[in-house]
Amino acid sequence: MAFIVRKKIGERDYYYLNENKRIEGKVKTKTLAYLGKTKKEAEKKAKEFLEKMEKKEFTDDGKQGSLRSPSFAKANEEVSHSHSKAMREKKEEIANLHTEISVEDMAIFCKRRGFVYQSADIYGGFAGFWDFGHLGAELKNNIKKEWWKFHVWERRDIKGIDGSIITHPLVWKASGHVDSFSDVFVVCKKCKKPEKIDRKDLGKVKCPKCGGEFDNENAKEFKLMFKTNVGEKDEAYLRPETAQLIFTNFKSVYENARMKLPFGIAQVGKAFRNEIAPRDFLFRCREFEQMEIEYFIIPNSSCNYEIPEVEILTYSAANQEKDELPVKMKITEALKKGIIKKDWHAYWLATEFSWFVNLGANPNNFRIRQHRKDELAHYSSDCWDLEYKFPFGWKELEGIADRSDYDLSQHQKFSKKDLTVFDENSKKKILPHVICEPSLGVERAFLVFMFDSYFYDDKRENIVLRLHPKIAPIKAAIFPIVKKEDFEKLCESIFDDLKSELNVIYDESGSIGRRYARNDEIGTPYCITVDEESLKNKDATIRERDTKKQIRVKISELKTTLKKLINEEIQFEKAGKLVKT
Ligand code: GAP
Repeated sequence: MAFIVRKKIGERDYYYLNENKRIEGKVKTKTLAYLGKTKKEAEKKAKEFLEKMEKKEFTDDGKQGSLRSPSFAKANEEVSHSHSKAMREKKEEIANLHTEISVEDMAIFCKRRGFVYQSADIYGGFAGFWDFGHLGAELKNNIKKEWWKFHVWERRDIKGIDGSIITHPLVWKASGHVDSFSDVFVVCKKCKKPEKIDRKDLGKVKCPKCGGEFDNENAKEFKLMFKTNVGEKDEAYLRPETAQLIFTNFKSVYENARMKLPFGIAQVGKAFRNEIAPRDFLFRCREFEQMEIEYFIIPNSSCNYEIPEVEILTYSAANQEKDELPVKMKITEALKKGIIKKDWHAYWLATEFSWFVNLGANPNNFRIRQHRKDELAHYSSDCWDLEYKFPFGWKELEGIADRSDYDLSQHQKFSKKDLTVFDENSKKKILPHVICEPSLGVERAFLVFMFDSYFYDDKRENIVLRLHPKIAPIKAAIFPIVKKEDFEKLCESIFDDLKSELNVIYDESGSIGRRYARNDEIGTPYCITVDEESLKNKDATIRERDTKKQIRVKISELKTTLKKLINEEIQFEKAGKLVKT
């Protein structure tokens, strides 16, 4: 039976449609839908939602509601071969226990908890620029670290580089950015707000904010690259993407890292775009970071990796042109049916999606969308985006384009350097093709993990940020159960033992309940408590954030146990002696 609940988060009210379900003998509350901020709106939305649910009108793209699909377990099973059944079920439960909030409220939460601040807030902020606070910096670094581990360390076919932000201006001439990296900028005649639109939409679209007409006659071309000076007057640009540095270093990496095709080059770093209308918190910034790979192959060669068996909402160009809804299918099936044209493309789409899901993101909030013909760059035969269901709609999270040999041939032409490599099979020199360019913004990934882990727990009456332990800013908080010299000393020695390998904190202020709540809200997966027994038995309790279960573990084994828990090598219940609470 579904029912409406009101939650007070900060100063605001939020309404949700909840349902109680008995799972394994326990009654659990599941949020079915976010209903808005007023009672009236909530009642209306709940009625509509329940009517549609009765008629089974829901689709997985969320257009008709936000029911979580039961196929989660399947998708997740296929994504993470290494996870035990119990861990998988736990992830499923976490995905279901989720609270939807708006992007504005997420920005407020991030500020209040030290994740993200408006840049130069004390001067009134600076549109499109953000600073990461003491927790945000950790989360962002952990996302980048996990991305690098997965894409570079754990693979023999990808090497990483770190190129300069200000590059030779000819790089941007060759890449086409100087001539065509621009947006069309129009102002709404009614609300006077500026808007960036696609050139092809000029004269055809209205203001998305108020529905007003745009002043199309005064539309302006707006260059997106930031200019700067090198020396006294030489003009240069701040890079608008990291990708071009990969192309300019292609031959050096190929030779010095002794790579063989197929292989990739990865890079993580800052990019700058003078966006006309930065918006939606971290979604569209003027300064951001990218995690990019250029994956080079012998032209027309096929993929030599197994494509992960994942299922995802698939929105083909044909679906879009016919105004149809996306369809849930296996990526391998989309390849078989010719929806995805190349096996390499299917491989990278499945791999990128898996990276998110293995780090705790909810697979039901993702889809892949093929670019329509009118969106494709002239050199690209196929392009797909990995999209995420943000509170403001389905949006691009990661672009995964086939760039053919466009960039290498342009740089070869402009630099007059030979960028071909010798192909042992054909015994000819060839110019490799970039079959895929997975390109992901760190800030967008940050938002995904924040939205998917944010949960207001009615019973605890506090937010629980269910971040995967691998990316959680703080891995463990260490508490003395009460302020007492013996306990404090023991806590300090635990802190000293853990600090070199794990980011941990010591917290002694407030009641134990308050300290748990504080750490739940910032996503700390484990709290270690020292009590009277610890002095006698040389052990401590570890409390798990998501289940509130506690185990007792020998102090000498705390570090190894925490590391195994973080890496999902053991189940929490089996990592120590379960405490009855
Ligand atoms: N090298 C290809 C490239 O840069 P893109 O689609 O322009 O392609 C790739 O950008 C990714 O970079 C996007 O999918 C998004 O995640 C991120 N991104 C792009 N512009 C951004 C912005 N203004 N703010 C935050 N992230 C952005």
